[in-house]
Amino acid sequence: MKIFYAPVQGYTDAPYRHFHALTYSPADIYCAPFMHIEHGEPRRRDIRDISTSLNENLQLLPQILFKDFNEFKLLSDAVAGCGYSSVDLNLGCPFPPQVKKGRGAGMITNLPCLNQIAESMNSSADGLSYSIKMRLGTVDARQWREIVPIINDMPLSHVTIHPRVASQQYSGELFMEEFEEALKVLRHPVVFNGDIHTPQDITDMASRYPELYGLMIGRGLLARPSLIEEWRSGTEMDRELQIDRLLSMHTSLLSHYESCLCGDSQILSKIKPFWEYPSEIIGHRSAKLIRKAGSLNSYNNAVSTIGSL
Ligand SMILES: Cc1cc2nc3c(=O)[nH]c(=O)nc-3n(C[C@H](O)[C@H](O)[C@H](O)COP(=O)(O)O)c2cc1C
Repeated sequence: MKIFYAPVQGYTDAPYRHFHALTYSPADIYCAPFMHIEHGEPRRRDIRDISTSLNENLQLLPQILFKDFNEFKLLSDAVAGCGYSSVDLNLGCPFPPQVKKGRGAGMITNLPCLNQIAESMNSSADGLSYSIKMRLGTVDARQWREIVPIINDMPLSHVTIHPRVASQQYSGELFMEEFEEALKVLRHPVVFNGDIHTPQDITDMASRYPELYGLMIGRGLLARPSLIEEWRSGTEMDRELQIDRLLSMHTSLLSHYESCLCGDSQILSKIKPFWEYPSEIIGHRSAKLIRKAGSLNSYNNAVSTIGSL
């Protein structure tokens, strides 16, 4: 069963992915946060994120967020132009302004656009292979059913399902019965995504749904970057070892940012998010000191308290 590192905008950008794959047993596939249109063209920063040589040590799946066929085409052409042969379509983003404009989870209700995309996938030879990452709906967990015939008609490599609706954002009940129904009726390989935090969670999901193509993990991996390694090796790391490995990844990531960014505030804005999710491992007092640090000097002092507070 494949393990996908979920796309998490603002956290899993190219340097993070690169140093995660170097420090830990890597995910089988790293999903890039969504690319989108800004001022009528694919945002430059998104293009840089998937084009940098930092992606060379891992398997990357770029993702696009679109509101109509035109945006879909512009973005998928941009992904192909960067040399990729696969692209993931975001039908899950729950951010209300995007959903309102019909992007992300908002696309689940746009049957005409999905039909047009299916037709284009089936008729054009653009050399791209497609996958979908979706929620069950915007407000109703049964909405996905309406798009099953269209999705089943698309030539997809897999469909990832986060079994929540957009209005829940990232918390609340997972609609597992709806997920199980989707697993039955989708004719594509299915990847499950949502609330996986421990090696035992991975084992449990794999034995509960042996037919799954993969598991996608986001916040669980950000909080515990050793998660895949622990699951693969069958041995959980103690806190001391987890801290050692986190600090090792952090040293590489920080030197990378110091080599390419200028000034404390730029560097701090890129490196601080690294510590937001692993606060259980590093302890809340160190996490707070890191959050409050206003200069690189006080930041480094805060990091040096990890494991001793
Ligand atoms: C801050 C944040 C940013 C996210 N950015 C993306 C994104 O760019 N594309 C996407 O498909 N999902 C995005 N997600 C959703 C995650 O990929 C994932 O589906 C969600 O966190 C549930 O999985 P988890 O419980 O393993 O974290 C984001 C989630 C968070 C919390």
